[in-house]
Amino acid sequence: MELLKFEKGRKGVVGMKLLEERIRRDGIIEAGEVLKVDSFLNHQMDVQLYREMGREWRRLFDGAEITKILTIEASGIGIACVAALEFGVPVIFAKKSKTKNIAGEVYSTTVTSFTHGNVSTVIVSKKFLHPGDRVLLIDDFLANGAAMLGLIDIVRQSGAELVGCGIAIEKAFQPGGARLREMGIRVESLARVSKLEDGLIEFID
Ligand code: G4P
Repeated sequence: MELLKFEKGRKGVVGMKLLEERIRRDGIIEAGEVLKVDSFLNHQMDVQLYREMGREWRRLFDGAEITKILTIEASGIGIACVAALEFGVPVIFAKKSKTKNIAGEVYSTTVTSFTHGNVSTVIVSKKFLHPGDRVLLIDDFLANGAAMLGLIDIVRQSGAELVGCGIAIEKAFQPGGARLREMGIRVESLARVSKLEDGLIEFID
């Protein structure tokens, strides 16, 4: 595996441009406007790239006084953990639960995957999110926004404050990003893909 060679000292746009360059180099466009990035992002994991992404979110959310990072299993976990090292806060991952009737000790919501066509119940223990927490949501992809809307619902139930969303790859031609921004939510996507067809990939700067 060729690891990312990051440039020391360069800040700011680095996190974004590095991810875009890596997608151009190693991303594979599949049928149905699916971008395969499993060689570096969500199967084999280039954690040095993750570190640059974490640093970029840290820079973007500087001063936001984040106390917790919240993600959803599975692919968000690794990215969120490396980002959390930059913020110095714990990571919570929402668990996809097989049990439908859950009550009491957990916040629970449902997430409908438009890609896979299934509905999952996701849960977070009430022990780990409270009023007074300031929460950053992190995930690898933002497509239709179902996962983010589920996490937002969990933050709302907990009484914590939602600071924003840190997304690795936003598929800007799908409605998730617009939906969240219309709700007044701050969304910081490190790569925004505007087009994904005929072997061509275009980004929004
Ligand atoms: P949404 O959360 O934005 O609504 O996503 P959507 O339902 O459309 O997609 C369902 C799953 O597919 C999500 O993962 C999402 O991250 C992933 N996904 C969406 N578009 C792409 C794509 O172009 N490429 C890849 N590689 N993944 C995509 P998930 O079901 O939560 O699974 P997990 O991988 O996190 O476990």
